[in-house]
Amino acid sequence: MQQANTLCRARQYESDHRTPLEQRPAFHAVPPVGWCNDPNGWSCYEGQYHLFYQYHPYSNCWGPMHWGHTETTDFLHWNDLPCALAPDSPFDEKGCFSGGAVEWQGKQLLLYTGVMPENDGEIQQQCMAVGDGRDYTKACAPVLPCEQQPEGYSRRDFRDPFLFTRDGILYMLLGGRGKNGHGRLLLYRNAAPLDPNSRWEFVQILAENDGSLGSMWECPNLFELEGRTVVIISPQFVRQTADNRYHCGNDTAALIGSWEGPGTPFVQQADTPLDSGLDFYAPQTLETPDGRRVLIGWMQNWDHCYPPEHACWYGQMTLPRELFWQDGALCQRPVRELDAARRLRTAFRGVEIQEQPVRLSGVHGRVLDCELEVNVTEARRFGLRFACGAGRWAELRVDLEEGLLRIDRRHGGGFRDALELRETPLTAVGDTLKLRMVLDRYSAEFFLQDGRQAASLTLYDIPADADGIEFFASGKARMDLQLYDLAL
Ligand code: FRU
Repeated sequence: MQQANTLCRARQYESDHRTPLEQRPAFHAVPPVGWCNDPNGWSCYEGQYHLFYQYHPYSNCWGPMHWGHTETTDFLHWNDLPCALAPDSPFDEKGCFSGGAVEWQGKQLLLYTGVMPENDGEIQQQCMAVGDGRDYTKACAPVLPCEQQPEGYSRRDFRDPFLFTRDGILYMLLGGRGKNGHGRLLLYRNAAPLDPNSRWEFVQILAENDGSLGSMWECPNLFELEGRTVVIISPQFVRQTADNRYHCGNDTAALIGSWEGPGTPFVQQADTPLDSGLDFYAPQTLETPDGRRVLIGWMQNWDHCYPPEHACWYGQMTLPRELFWQDGALCQRPVRELDAARRLRTAFRGVEIQEQPVRLSGVHGRVLDCELEVNVTEARRFGLRFACGAGRWAELRVDLEEGLLRIDRRHGGGFRDALELRETPLTAVGDTLKLRMVLDRYSAEFFLQDGRQAASLTLYDIPADADGIEFFASGKARMDLQLYDLAL
């Protein structure tokens, strides 16, 4: 009985407190009310893209985790669906943590991490719920208990199943911890996950942290992209590396290599951070029917979660992004559905930017898509301020001599400015800096050099009518610009 009550209560609450559309981003996914973190179960089911997410409807802070639910056909318009899972069983009473979804024999199958109390602490185990795209029935016990791990395991850190199928078998990749306390990725398989007598079989440790990239690895993902294997991880407690590519705290990396398939070793050849902004974590990917690999991330970071006091919702997803290779580099660009929504508002050619900040007629707004090509042969620095107004703004700056990208929100109205600046190595720019900026009321996402470097940040504390944009340079920069409104 409790089961039905907890979920019904969440569904009733969200339907009674739904945030009006004009108080949400124009085209980014957010919860109807309350808090969200990680995207979960990002997948296709019966012709729709489904997005579940870590959800606490009752406040704008993290709390007992539910799974919120929304769907889209074009990655831009989101249709709220009723809360999918609530922490209402003995094995998930402390929360339904992150996980994946897959279409299996016509049903939508969710695998998530159930957190339950044990002695003084908590344990994490993998649980299953089966549904029709709206309503889900939980299996009556965890399908993968925490004891079913190879030697040296942690009962407390065993979570975030990512699902994929191969040759008719369902695979689940999980984050766990080994003897040395570092993160490792565990692969399991099941040929008949709906059969209550089936058992998830351990296949292999796919990757292991040697201590150089954080500790526990959360929210893994695994996919093939044009002949190379990519494993995405979200490591906790990263320490800054000498090359400054990763930042301290919670970070996100793609491990790139080759993998012949289950049971064979994953051979890592490279790794790359996924976002150089302030707000990005725990991404998931899906493959569209037309073969695109589309990533969506939580546009937030545990390192600075400060919900504005009266916000009805807090936590949003990034724009879905297509992943692709360019000259061997893993790149990201906004889904092409956004390109289709663009309507040119204004364009400029050859604008000279020197020491004085430049504003251009018609170049302003908080919901737009903008592309710049800047000749920087005579510039030492180029930058732009956006969301300017009422004494607040945020800034992106490239320091060409130092080779640095700076995302700076210290003037963005937050109350801890020490956390509001991120500085990372700048991707190679050459003579022409290419920059795409997508603004959506409460966020900004940047794509540099055709997607070689992405940077995301939220804009919660800058009023929505602060919509100025200005450009600045040291030395001399010459800029072409196209600014698009979005027909949504
Ligand atoms: C990542 C994470 C996951 C966990 C979830 C809990 O942000 O810590 O590992 O499942 O959030 O909300």
